[in-house]
Amino acid sequence: MDHQDVMTGCAPGTPPLHVGLFDSGVGGLSVLRALYQALARAQFSYFADSSHAPYGERDPAHVIERSMRITAALVERGAGAIVVACNTATALAVDALRTAYPLVPIIGVEPGIKPAAARSRVGRIGVLATPATLASERFERLVREHAGGVEVVCQPCPGLAARIEAGDLDAPDLVQRVAELCKPLRERGVDVVVLGCTHYPFVHQHVQAALGTGVEIIDTAQAVAQQAARRCEALMPTNANPPGSAALLTHARDGVLARLAAQWLPFECREVPAPAELA
Ligand code: DGL
Repeated sequence: MDHQDVMTGCAPGTPPLHVGLFDSGVGGLSVLRALYQALARAQFSYFADSSHAPYGERDPAHVIERSMRITAALVERGAGAIVVACNTATALAVDALRTAYPLVPIIGVEPGIKPAAARSRVGRIGVLATPATLASERFERLVREHAGGVEVVCQPCPGLAARIEAGDLDAPDLVQRVAELCKPLRERGVDVVVLGCTHYPFVHQHVQAALGTGVEIIDTAQAVAQQAARRCEALMPTNANPPGSAALLTHARDGVLARLAAQWLPFECREVPAPAELA
C-alpha cells in the first residue's frame, strides 16, 4: 500500500475522490463543512489564500490570476474536482477556470438570488456581498435571470471579510460594522437577505440580530454541496471507503484558519505545508 492507501484504508488502486477547494481565506470553511456532509468519503484539500485577501477589493485580473494558479496547484496535488468556495472568485474567474480545465468538474458559489426571491413575501430582498461580486457581470446576469421581478437591494461590504479574517468573531467593532451594513437593508424593508460571501456565515448571528428575527437569511453552502455531490457522484469509487480527510493549506502564520476550522467543523483537519509556488 502506498501512503494514500494507508491514510484512507482504501484497497490499492482505488484512491478516494480528491476535491480541491479554495477561498481568499477562512470563508470557504463554511462551504467545506457542508461539502464534508455531502461527500463524506472524499479527501479534501482546502487552500486559504490569506496573503492575497481580500479578493473582493482587488483588481479582477489579480483574482483571476490567483484562481488559475491555485487551481493548477490543487490539480497538481491530485484534485479531481474543484470547488471555488468564494463568491468573488466564482464571479470573476469560474469561466476562465472551466475553459482551462474542461475535464475537471469546477463548482462555483453564487449568491442565492433565486431561492431568496422565491421566499420573499414582500417582493424585496437584500444581498450582502463584496464590492467585486456586486460589480461583476456574472452577478448582474444572475439578478436579471433569477430575481423574477423581485426588487434586489445590494449592499457592498468593504472591509467585512478582512475583519472576519482577523478571527475575533465577536469583536465589538465587527459587530458594529455588521449593524451599519445591515441598517440600509432594514430601512428598505427587505424580508430575505442573501449572504453573498462565504465569510459572512461566520457572523450569521450578528447579521440576524441586526436585521431582526422577521428577516430570513439565505446561505448557499448546502445547495453548493449538493450540487458538488451530484457532479462528483460518477467520480466516487464504488467500494465503501472510510470517512475522508481534510487538509488545510495556507501561508498565513497567525493560526486563525486552524482555530476557526476546529471551532466550525465537526471533523478534524490536518494542517499541511502550502505549496511554495502559491506564496
Ligand atoms: N469569501 C469570499 C467571497 O465569498 C471573498 C472575501 C474577500 O476576500 O473579499 O466572496
